[in-house]
This record gives sequence, C-alpha cells and structure tokens, in this order.
Amino acid sequence: MGTMMSRPARGAAYCVASVLAMLAVRATAADAMQAPPQVHPKLWPKLRPALARDPALEARLDSLLARMTPEQKVGQLIQADIGSITPDDLRHYPLGSILNGGNSSPRDDKLAAPSEWLHLADRFYAASLDAPGSLGIPVLWGTDAVHGHNNIPGATIFPHNIGLGAARDPELIRRIAAVTALEVRVTGLDWAFSPTVAVARDARWGRTYESYSESPDLVRRYAAAVVTGLQGKPGTPQFLDAAHVLATPKHFLGDGGTGGRDQGNNPGSERQLRELDAAGYEAAIPAGAQTVMASYSSWQGRKMHGNYELLTRVLKGRMGFDGLVVGDWNGHAQLPGCTPVRCAAALDAGVDVLMAPDGWRELYVNTLAQVRSGEIAATRLDDAVRRVLRVKLRAHLDTEGAPSTRRYAGRYALLGAPQHLELARQAVRESLVLLKNRDHLLPLSPHERVLVAGDGADSIARQSGGWTIDWQGTEPNQDFPHAESIFAGIARVVRAAGGTAELSAAGDFHTRPDVAIVVFGESPYAEYAGDVPTLEYSPGDKHDLALLGRLRAADVPVVAVFLSGRPLWVNAELNAADSFVAAWLPGPQGGALADVLFRAADGRVAYDFRGKLPFSWPRSPRPPRPDGAGGGAGLPGEAPLFPFGYGLTYQDVGYVPRLPEEAAAPAGGG
Ligand code: BGC
Ligand code: BGC
Repeated sequence: MGTMMSRPARGAAYCVASVLAMLAVRATAADAMQAPPQVHPKLWPKLRPALARDPALEARLDSLLARMTPEQKVGQLIQADIGSITPDDLRHYPLGSILNGGNSSPRDDKLAAPSEWLHLADRFYAASLDAPGSLGIPVLWGTDAVHGHNNIPGATIFPHNIGLGAARDPELIRRIAAVTALEVRVTGLDWAFSPTVAVARDARWGRTYESYSESPDLVRRYAAAVVTGLQGKPGTPQFLDAAHVLATPKHFLGDGGTGGRDQGNNPGSERQLRELDAAGYEAAIPAGAQTVMASYSSWQGRKMHGNYELLTRVLKGRMGFDGLVVGDWNGHAQLPGCTPVRCAAALDAGVDVLMAPDGWRELYVNTLAQVRSGEIAATRLDDAVRRVLRVKLRAHLDTEGAPSTRRYAGRYALLGAPQHLELARQAVRESLVLLKNRDHLLPLSPHERVLVAGDGADSIARQSGGWTIDWQGTEPNQDFPHAESIFAGIARVVRAAGGTAELSAAGDFHTRPDVAIVVFGESPYAEYAGDVPTLEYSPGDKHDLALLGRLRAADVPVVAVFLSGRPLWVNAELNAADSFVAAWLPGPQGGALADVLFRAADGRVAYDFRGKLPFSWPRSPRPPRPDGAGGGAGLPGEAPLFPFGYGLTYQDVGYVPRLPEEAAAPAGGG
C-alpha cells in the first residue's frame, strides 16, 4: 500500500460515502455529525516559530541521515518502557528513546533510591552509544513529571494542575515547572511528558485534575509558562541547558472534549477544536515546546493517532511545529488495522515516535520490514528521524556527556530542597477555593480545641491523587519523606499556639471541640479509572455526609475540606458544613492548608484565600452539554452553582442559602 497515495484516495472515499449517506437518508444535523472530519488548515492560526531554522544544525542532520542505516532510522522512531527493556537491549536494538510509565521504576521497585535512577540512566546512555555503528546520539528518557518529579520518593510534588488553575498565577506555574525540570535533571532524565493542556469540559472525565481549567484563556497562559519553566526561554543560553528538560504539551488534540470519557470521542466542530482545544498549543509552540503527545481520543469518530490533517497539516504545517510528535502508550494500536506491534498508519499520519512500552521489539522488526518494502515511504521515515534528531541536538544530548556527569546530576539535596518545598506550599495556599463561610467561621483561632476528622485527614495519598509515586497513587504515608498531611499541618499550627488538635477519622471525641475540620473526598485515580457516570459525589456511600451531620448535631461548628480531582455535586455536604473549602489535590505539602485556615498566634491573618474556581461548580449531578463550550457555560437553563472564577476571601460574606438536595430528574438523554 503506497501510503502517500492512499491519503487522497481515502479522502475521496469519505466524500463518496458522505454523498451516499446524504442521498440515502434525510440529511439531518445528526448525519452531519457522522460525516468524516473536515479540516481547513487555512483557518488555523499560523504561529511564529520559537526558533529560527539553524542552517548548521540542519546540515548536521543531513549528514547524520546520510550515514544512518535503516535499522538506526527505525530505532529512532520507537520508544520502550524501562519495565520491558534493559540497557543491554540497546546494543542490539538502536531505539531512540525510553520512558518510565507510571508504574515503572529501576528494579521494578517504586521506592528505588534516586541514585538508582541516575545509575540506570547512565547504563542506558552508555549502551545506546555502544550500539554498533553508533553515530554518537544517545537515547532520550521521558517521564511523567506532571506535578513535580512525581515518580521519585522525596522529590518535590506540587498540587495537581486543577489546583494550579485556581491559583491564577502564571509566574508561580513557571517556577514550579523550573523546579520540576531541575529535580528531573538530578536523576539524569531528559524529558517531561507535561503539561497537559486539555481544556476539560465534562468533569466526569477521570483526567479533569490534569487540566488547568475549562477556560481556554487560562490554559493558554499557563501552557506558555510551563513550557518556559521546563525548557528555559528559546534564544537564551538557558534553553535546554543542564537545568532544563524537554516539555510535552499533551494530548493533541481534543482530549478535553470527549463527553467525560477517557480516550473517548470529541464530537465538536472544527471551530471548537480550534478555539477551545488548541488554545494550549497556540501558546506552547511559540514558547518553544519541542515535543507534543498525540491523544488517545478521537475527533468526530476518528482516532487522533491517525489524523494526518491535524497532526501533519495543522500542527506541523500551519502551526509550524518542527519538533517531534510522540504517540501515547500503545496509542497507535487503537488505529483500525493496527496492533501494538505493527502500525504504519500512525507514522503516516504524523506520529514520529511510537510509544511501544512492551511491544517495542516486534514493532521494530515489523516497522523495519515496512520500510524495506516501501510501505512506509522513505521521505516520511527521514522526516520523522530528522525531527527526533533535531530535538536531541537542540537538547545538547550529543555533547552533554553521561547523565551522571551533567551539572545537577546526583545533587540529591535538590530533591525536596527547602526552597522547593516552600514553593509547593505557596502553591497549596494559592490553590484553595473557599466556597462557603457562614458567619465568618474561618479564619479559625489556633488557641482552640480542634477536632480533625474524615478519612482524608491524615493520608498523603488522598491529598495527592494519581500520578504520585505510582500510576494510580496508592502509597502509604511513610513513603513520602518530606510530606505533611493536612492533619499534621493543623497540629503544627495549633499546638504551636497552645491549642489542641486531635485526630479521629470517625469524628469521635470525649470533650466537645470548639470546631471540627472534616477532610474528605475522592480516592486517588488516574486516567480511565477515574471516569464516573454522574457528577454526584460518592453516590451510594454517604458516610462523610453522616459524619458532618453528627458533628453539627452535637453543636460543633464544621469546616469541610473537600479533596477532589474535579468539581462535584455536593449540595448536601455544603448544607451540612458551616464552611467549605475546595482543596483539589494539594499533594504531599497539603499541610500548608493550615496556614490559611488559622490566624497566626498573634491574631493576624497571615494568608487569606485567593484561589478562584478554574471550573464552574455544578448545581446538579447532570453532566454539561456534550458540546458545552466551557468557560462556565454549563447546561442551557442551568447556571452553575458557583461560576468559573468564584472564590471567597475572608472579607466576603460567605453566606450560601440552603441548597436543594434532591437530584433533579435527568434531562432527556442525560
Ligand atoms: C497517558 C499519558 C502518559 C503516558 C506515559 C498514557 O497512558 O495517557 O499521559 O504520558 O501514558 O505514561
Ligand atoms: C502505565 C502508565 C500508562 C498506563 C496506560 C500504566 O501501566 O504505568 O504510564 O499511562 O499504563 O494504560
């Protein structure tokens, strides 16, 4: 199959099919939705490239390409997971990159010391240069450093993106990304699969917390800040120097518009794709992002890994992206006709590096055969290899030496360094959103008798969410060396001021406390494991609500601290609490919450609330319209309970009227 030929042919087939469809059945709006995706690249923003083409670098790429064997070229296009490849394998299979997935670590031990990561990076590096005929371009190692260098126990871990969205502080976000880059460098890795620039519009999606906001404007501002923080500023000596790593805005394109289904279908129009979903890329590419990850999701019924129009014509053409497109974890396997170990279609469409965690060996063999037979065009092969090598040379991979010899490598004191932890604590304080504050219950006095209750009160995992040490985020407290649980933070502040703080998850007490702080919310999840059918918090298990009610019945004023990866329908819990804080997923430094909840010992307010909702808060468990336009639009006729941008301070009257607790009958199709 001549793939260069098949594209127009495929397009023609679609046209015929849609004409037939229109003739056969009445042409309704629904039919139009079924029609094959139409893309008009000219309507997309033409972006100013971050880096001018460097003729010397391009000449080097020419000469490298001229010396490479087909084996070496194919190797550059395949990425294996460290759970399935050893350094020695690189001596026989010249793969261009590796990753550690959310559950992969040296010796398969998620508590492996940072020095083991660095040592393993050295071994992969050395083996990649040892491969027969090596051209001196080593392997790249990518990792999901999505809220700090979060696979490394002891590294600084920040609030998840949803909380950063509440902070409305691009400079803070840039500094967080710079710290993340530095800590990744300590362990010898080169590449962060971040930021997620999804504009999530249906909070039922299990990845809502990876999204900064439903607002494309906020995502746009943050995307530039994160990319600059991770990579440094293009055109300066800091760009991709020893303190920086490659960034990866993901997942291109439309992952936030799939009706709440992970890896689902985005049915939006091309215009919505452009105006909502593309916002982050519009900023990340001019900021110099060198890699982009393709999305598992579909647009108008077609998987993005196979979308030539969007990956090649729009991203690489119109937007001028000259870095590499990496596929998602076996994402290519979801294309029609593809398997994890064979997939020319993804390469044809514009994916340059196939993430083939476990099937890399067979994929390498099959791809090589497809190159030899001409099924994969030589021009496309060379284009993909050129992009991979361009990124590697821009990252100075050829000259910066073995991972452990680089400037910050092995400086383990930087992992969780005091100034990094303080930045995380600042981020926690800025990310909290106060939804209700009856009779100015908050700020609390630290001199009082405080009961801390709820099963989230003393759990680092619960306050951190997924992508924390492991994929789904299940680590016990002792595996977080620098962490402070929310209870521990409260105890620190209260005990220092002479008050008392008692922990009882169930809310038991002997002496009636002056106030109770109840910490509850979602349990950790990542990706599809976090998809839910409605926005109702914890349907079927109302023990948190019962706890709030018991305390209230005992005449104890109640502050609810809600941990969640998304806004949820919590009307009953809001009613049952005097004050209600949306704390999102603050991470291991969640103890910093206490610095906001309490006055200083001398009575001052040291930190007020400043977080503003990054997502509108639902009035009912019903999801928004599937094509909801974000920005707080919500359901027609159903305004959000708290709009995008809502968030009280201590000056505000925090009165919230009693809210209906019955879920309204689901709207048709709900
Ligand atoms: C996720 C990506 C992630 C990759 C590597 C995929 O399942 O969708 O966001 O970067 O795995 O862990
Ligand atoms: C990996 C993740 C990956 C996921 C994809 C997990 O086993 O650890 O990195 O995103 O699989 O399904």
